[in-house]
Amino acid sequence: MPIANNFLFPDEFRDEFFYELKVGYCEGCHMVQLVERVEPERLFHDHYAFYSSTSSRMARHFEAFADEVCQKYLRSPDPFVIEIGSNDGIMLKHFAHRGLRHLGIEPSKNVAQVALDQHLDVISEFFSVDLSAEIVRKRGKADAILGANVMCHIPNLHSVAEGIKQLLKPEGVLIFEDPYLGDIVEKTSYDQIYDEHVFYFSLHSISGFFEGHGMEVIDIVPQDVHGGSMRYVIARKNGGRISDRVKTQLAKERAIGLDRPETFDSLSRNIERSRDELIAVLRDLKTKGKRVVGYGATSKSTTVINYCGITPDLVQHISDTTPIKQGKYSPGGHIPIRPYESFCADYPDVALLFAWNHADEIMAKEKRFLESGGKWLTYIPKVEVIG
Ligand code: SAH
Ligand code: TMP
Repeated sequence: MPIANNFLFPDEFRDEFFYELKVGYCEGCHMVQLVERVEPERLFHDHYAFYSSTSSRMARHFEAFADEVCQKYLRSPDPFVIEIGSNDGIMLKHFAHRGLRHLGIEPSKNVAQVALDQHLDVISEFFSVDLSAEIVRKRGKADAILGANVMCHIPNLHSVAEGIKQLLKPEGVLIFEDPYLGDIVEKTSYDQIYDEHVFYFSLHSISGFFEGHGMEVIDIVPQDVHGGSMRYVIARKNGGRISDRVKTQLAKERAIGLDRPETFDSLSRNIERSRDELIAVLRDLKTKGKRVVGYGATSKSTTVINYCGITPDLVQHISDTTPIKQGKYSPGGHIPIRPYESFCADYPDVALLFAWNHADEIMAKEKRFLESGGKWLTYIPKVEVIG
């Protein structure tokens, strides 16, 4: 596989980097993770292509996340909130606007700059134990440490846990959310699997992991963003009452088999079936002379395009609203990325919904496309032509 977010120009095709994308399940600790990892510096740098604020739905989601943290977890007189992977400030700004002490830690310099331009307090570095020690020295300990779609990105998770323990006040909480393994299994959403996502967490794996670091999961809240995510609230052991939801979810995970290897054998078969069906539909559309365009040059689409073998003769181009991606080509498959305006100016017969995790927002916006006879092709949870 190529790097999922490495949208590139033709003169870069020759030197494109590839690695082997392979996922393993540990029967001992129930963690599902990549077997071969790409060095973080290759993924997160000064031209990182993902800007969180491109989705209005996610903007609302993070405003609500910040509201909940303020209401439930910031009880001290002058609270200090840290966000790991704060990106363009989509959540951090809600703490800043309240006048609260805050700090974002964001290694990708271009997205960190967007937050700095809004006068948010951000350090552009990778989170690590060493950085935690420096923050404690200079700014003190945190009431809450937050992370969204970032914990699963950090290969050295043990170092993160140790850093968090140093950095949290005794009664402080770590609250983070990531795509949830249960949803991946239930929806066959294999496109969540790519270089940045080193881990595919379940409550089983997260509970065991933090237990090993003297911490425990005190609450969980399922989230319907990014194709199904789970929010975990974690405190030092005996730091808080454990919600009944934790016990219920562990039982649910046993019922769907997240603690058993056979589940992943069957997921693997479902993924192969999904690939065969999608490519068959695309070939059929080509035979019928239909014009197909991709909608959303998501990082996830890199897995689908390269795993299924989708080529520019099957999908002419991909429409995307992110300026940094436009005019470039998709990683590996080299499908051109065009501005959203070109989608509106010349509707295709079929739009392949790569940004399926934003389906509600997109369907609401694209009523005219359906009215004018356009159809959607989706593949999660199943391959289907809609419209
Ligand atoms: N929290 C945002 C961004 C998620 S993308 C959201 O949910 O939309 C993941 C972000 O984590 C990227 O901006 C990346 O640069 C950052 N990141 C990756 N490794 C990190 C690390 N070790 N420490 C802090 N941030 C990291
Ligand atoms: P994500 O799935 O990783 O959040 O990325 C979504 C991508 O899709 C991002 O590049 C922006 C793009 N996009 C559009 O082009 N149009 C839209 O309406 C939405 C919501 C996203």
